[in-house]
Amino acid sequence: MQLIRLRQPASLDQLQLATAEPRRPGAGEVLLRVHASSLNYHDYCVVVGEIPAADGRVPMSDGAGEVVEAGPPLEGSPVFRPGDAVMSTFFTRWRDGPVAKEVARQVPGDDIDGFASEFVTVPASWLTLQPRGYSHAEAATLPCAALTAWRALVVDGPLNAGETVVVQGTGGVSIFALQFAKAAGATVIATSSSDEKLERLRALGADHVINYRTQPQWAKGVSEVTGGVGADHIVEVGGALTLTQSLRACRIGGHISMIGVLSGREGPVSTALLMTKNIRLQGVTVGSHRHQREMVRAIEANGIRPVIDSHFPLARIAQAFRFQKAGRHFGKIVLDL
Ligand SMILES: NC(=O)c1ccc[n+]([C@@H]2O[C@H](COP(=O)([O-])OP(=O)(O)OC[C@H]3O[C@@H](n4cnc5c(N)ncnc54)[C@H](OP(=O)(O)O)[C@@H]3O)[C@@H](O)[C@H]2O)c1
Repeated sequence: MQLIRLRQPASLDQLQLATAEPRRPGAGEVLLRVHASSLNYHDYCVVVGEIPAADGRVPMSDGAGEVVEAGPPLEGSPVFRPGDAVMSTFFTRWRDGPVAKEVARQVPGDDIDGFASEFVTVPASWLTLQPRGYSHAEAATLPCAALTAWRALVVDGPLNAGETVVVQGTGGVSIFALQFAKAAGATVIATSSSDEKLERLRALGADHVINYRTQPQWAKGVSEVTGGVGADHIVEVGGALTLTQSLRACRIGGHISMIGVLSGREGPVSTALLMTKNIRLQGVTVGSHRHQREMVRAIEANGIRPVIDSHFPLARIAQAFRFQKAGRHFGKIVLDL
């Protein structure tokens, strides 16, 4: 089988195509033919060395494929059969309940091997079923980006029909957030740096769109379309440079999900605004296996399909990351194996 290994010191030029033999599954394990993975900003940070990984690590946290062989079942572990279409989970140990130090570990692609490999042998407990009718490429977009958007709005929101949601930019997390918000009956205000992408956001159901490049004070636009009230929920992926606008755009008593750091990891925050507006600022790191199963059920009920911008073969993984870094994509970038 073919796989990718990241050599140290990490860089895109250190992503090497290698070969290995698949391992037969032991008790509680399955052998999976991985058909697709998808790129997340997190994976980019690993392959350029911003998140540390061991020499030879197989990158990519997302994976989707077909069970080829199942080892003897283990009590308490899900049972999958050959032919089942399954997908990875981001936190392999976070089955249920609130996030805790012990469960927010063992992320494929950084502290354990990931899914840039045609076959993997993993515990069945790391996997969930894919949504019915999904392709492997579609399923591979869900475990990190979609689950983060789901948790931000549905689990932590909690989002109610008729509320207003702001989503920022046109990356994977934000487009899933738009889709989940529309499915829940919300009004969506979407931002982008590109007018052409704003038109595509409208076609996906965005009710109002704002170009954050030509209108850097985009909170004013949110205020205008909400009659001066502000948004109920803001899916914050920009980080340091967008949080001030998000605090201004949020209604009194509203909710901001702190998800991304696209514009930087640290910066000044108007703590007075946060306090006087009684805003709930909630950090989010993906979600649990239970959240993933609940999201799959909602995706099936609402017929949501991921927006896939482009596909790259495994051997062109470095080009895929360069394409992601250029920021021209709309939605998800998929690796086909
Ligand atoms: N906390 C978590 O659990 C979690 C999970 C997943 C992702 N994340 C984080 O969330 C962020 C987004 O991830 P992703 O996978 O969706 O990324 P992505 O697909 O690479 O999204 C990139 C897009 O974000 C938009 N963007 C860039 N800078 C922006 C800014 N200053 N303001 C508003 N939008 C901006 C751009 O959209 P336009 O081209 O339309 O302007 C760009 O195309 C990353 O920081 C990632 O690390 C966190």
